[in-house]
Amino acid sequence: MTIRMTRRQALGTLAGAGLALGAAPRLLGAEAAATAAPQAPFALPPLPYPADALEPHLDAETMRLHHGKHHAGYVAKLNDAVARAPELAGRSVERLLADLDALPEGVRAAVRDQGGGHANHSLLWASLSPRGGGEPAGELGGALRGAFGSFGAFTEAFRAAAAGVFGSGWGWLALDRRRGLVIESTPNQGSPISAGQVPLLGVDVWEHAYYLKYQNRRAEYLEAFLRVVDWRAVEERFRRARA
Ligand SMILES: [Fe+2]
Repeated sequence: MTIRMTRRQALGTLAGAGLALGAAPRLLGAEAAATAAPQAPFALPPLPYPADALEPHLDAETMRLHHGKHHAGYVAKLNDAVARAPELAGRSVERLLADLDALPEGVRAAVRDQGGGHANHSLLWASLSPRGGGEPAGELGGALRGAFGSFGAFTEAFRAAAAGVFGSGWGWLALDRRRGLVIESTPNQGSPISAGQVPLLGVDVWEHAYYLKYQNRRAEYLEAFLRVVDWRAVEERFRRARA
């Protein structure tokens, strides 16, 4: 199910994907989409660029399917899940993911999987740009060098974490509870938010993210992914989370 949003709502949702957890509840979630579809609190954010904009690194057909089918599917199933628990009405997806144990048992797994899928992919689209790649400047560049030694050492560790995911999952750059930079991985649609972290950049290593173009060559896909990372967006996310 695809839900259209107004331009203002879409911009709000995309901006929300870049914000720290504490600032996120009004974004991505119920409040942002309520006027678009009151009966369906969560909505698919539009891609912030054409589907072919990240060619040749990420191909258009994969982008269309990934966004229009896979991400849309997570949104639809998340809406189905929260419809079974009216007491969750009005909560953002980040708030739901931040305390899975507090959720009714009947919807907990669906929120983890479908809500995680919605949050993870919303962050993903907002982390890429046809003008991406290179290295981050400013505070994030310095923090990455401080944490990992060099930008090259960071990318090596980031790619290794993502390459090492067994089966489906994500590789992450995140801020931990003490707001230090960490590299993590999660299985399936697990979100760093559920571990008290703030995700800054996630790379999707489900086969649906790369198989059409790269088949089993996940390492090649990871190289291509880094060529379209919008470091300005990641930097902005980093600064807001640490503010
Ligand atoms: Fe995906």
